[in-house]
Amino acid sequence: MDGNGRWAAKRGLPRTEGHNAGEEALFDTIEGVLDLGISWLTVYAFSTENWRRPQEEVDYLLGFSRNLLRKRLNELHERNVRIRFIGRREQPVNSGLIKEMQEAEELTRDNSKMTLSVAFNYGGRAEIVDALRSILNEFSNADGRSDNSATACQDLRITEEDISKYLYSPDMPDPDLVIRTSGESRISNFLLWQIAYSELVFFDVLWPDFRRRHLFEAVAEYQRRERRYGGR
Ligand code: IPE
Ligand code: MG
Repeated sequence: MDGNGRWAAKRGLPRTEGHNAGEEALFDTIEGVLDLGISWLTVYAFSTENWRRPQEEVDYLLGFSRNLLRKRLNELHERNVRIRFIGRREQPVNSGLIKEMQEAEELTRDNSKMTLSVAFNYGGRAEIVDALRSILNEFSNADGRSDNSATACQDLRITEEDISKYLYSPDMPDPDLVIRTSGESRISNFLLWQIAYSELVFFDVLWPDFRRRHLFEAVAEYQRRERRYGGR
């Protein structure tokens, strides 16, 4: 969800107004996803790299996310949406927010229309590192050889399926389509493992201006693509 700052700057507004305007874009997109019957949507809300922003903006984004969750949770629940968070649930994310994330997941866990997965304090590389740490942890605990993880590594027959199993949201299917807004043509650490064969669509639209019709355009573009997964 990129381009909030530029959207605000174009209007002579503070960046925070760009973040605020992103709410409508997000909820219009969610409506589009529900209309189309798409069952998983992952949105990149806050990256492990976003902590590098000025403290004032970081604080704003954290507070904004928390308010949004509070304000919209019941509505999402009524729409039969299951909420998930992916990312590192640890400081500097404060424990109050982590608790509210867990409560939202708990409340909506049996919802079945679609899963809204929110990447928060998320990094694709961090996710792979965390998966490897969990695998090694589990191995050394089971084996009682925690003193020698080099041996553990060698003995492990790690498969791609194993890595997938230890990601933050193991039951999430690999995305078919990735949409990046704001005219940037890069991935910026989003779902690195999962997007190996995703179709990428880049939009020259700043996130606050994004609406479901852009999603429909992206899906139409997706339908014109031929996916071969390296085969022929
Ligand atoms: C996306 O908009 C919001 C977050 C990364 C949280 P930006 O804040 O990155 O907006 P630009 O890229 O500066 O326009
Ligand atoms: Mg940006």
